[in-house]
Amino acid sequence: DLTRDLAGRHVVVSAGGTREPLDPVRFLGNRSSGKQGYALARSAAARGARVTLVAANAALPDPAGVDVVPVGTAVQLREAVLKAAADADAVVMAAAVADFRPETYAAGKIKKQDGQEPAPIALVRNPDILAEIAGERARPGQVIVGFAAETDDVLANGRAKLARKGCDLLVVNEVGERKTFGAEENEAVVLGADGSETGVPYGPKEALADVVWDLVAERLS
Ligand code: C5P
Repeated sequence: DLTRDLAGRHVVVSAGGTREPLDPVRFLGNRSSGKQGYALARSAAARGARVTLVAANAALPDPAGVDVVPVGTAVQLREAVLKAAADADAVVMAAAVADFRPETYAAGKIKKQDGQEPAPIALVRNPDILAEIAGERARPGQVIVGFAAETDDVLANGRAKLARKGCDLLVVNEVGERKTFGAEENEAVVLGADGSETGVPYGPKEALADVVWDLVAERLS
C-alpha cells in the first residue's frame, strides 16, 4: 500500500527556529514558523510512520499521533534530535538552527546605562547538528535530510552545502516574499547526494513534504 509506505519506520523531524537567550527576557531568534516541519510530521504520520517532532518555539497545534518534544535552544535541539535519532530510519532537519549563540547569559535583565555606548554581544558557534548526525549515522542506511534557505546562487550554494553537511538529500528554498518563512506555500529543489535534482513547484508546504517522503522512502527500500 503506497499510502502507508512508511509503516514500521521511525522518523525524526525538527521544526521551528531556535532562540538563544541573552538574559531572562531577550533572545536571538529567526523567522521560522515551523509550518514546513509540522507539515512533514503530519505527512509522515499519515503514511504510517512513528514520528518524533522536535519542535523549537513553534506556536502550532501538536499533530495528532505525533510524539512532540519541545525545545528552545540549539543545544537543547541537538540533545533531543540525537536521542530520537538513535533508532530512527530517517531524520529531517527542517528547523532553523542558530549558527551562533551569545557567549554569556545574564541571569538578570541587562540594563541600559545612562550616557554609555551599548556593549557588543559576543557570540560563539553552535554545534552543526545536521553535519553531526550525517557524519555519525546512528544506523546503517539511515536517511538524513537537510534544509537550506538561500537568497542567491541557489543551486550552486545548495550543492556545496549538501557536500559539506554530508546528508543524503538537501531541500533548497529560495527565500522570498510569499515563500519560506511564515508562509503557507513553498517552492524548492531537492538535491540528492546521488546527483538527483527534484523540482517542487510553488504550492502548499504539504506538497513539498510529500515529495520529501517519496524521496526518503525510495532510499529506505
Ligand atoms: O548551514 P545552514 O544553517 O544553512 O544549514 C541548514 C541546515 O542545517 C538545516 O537543515 C538546519 O536544520 C541544519 N543546521 C543544524 N545545526 C546548525 C545549523 C544548521 O543542524 N547549527
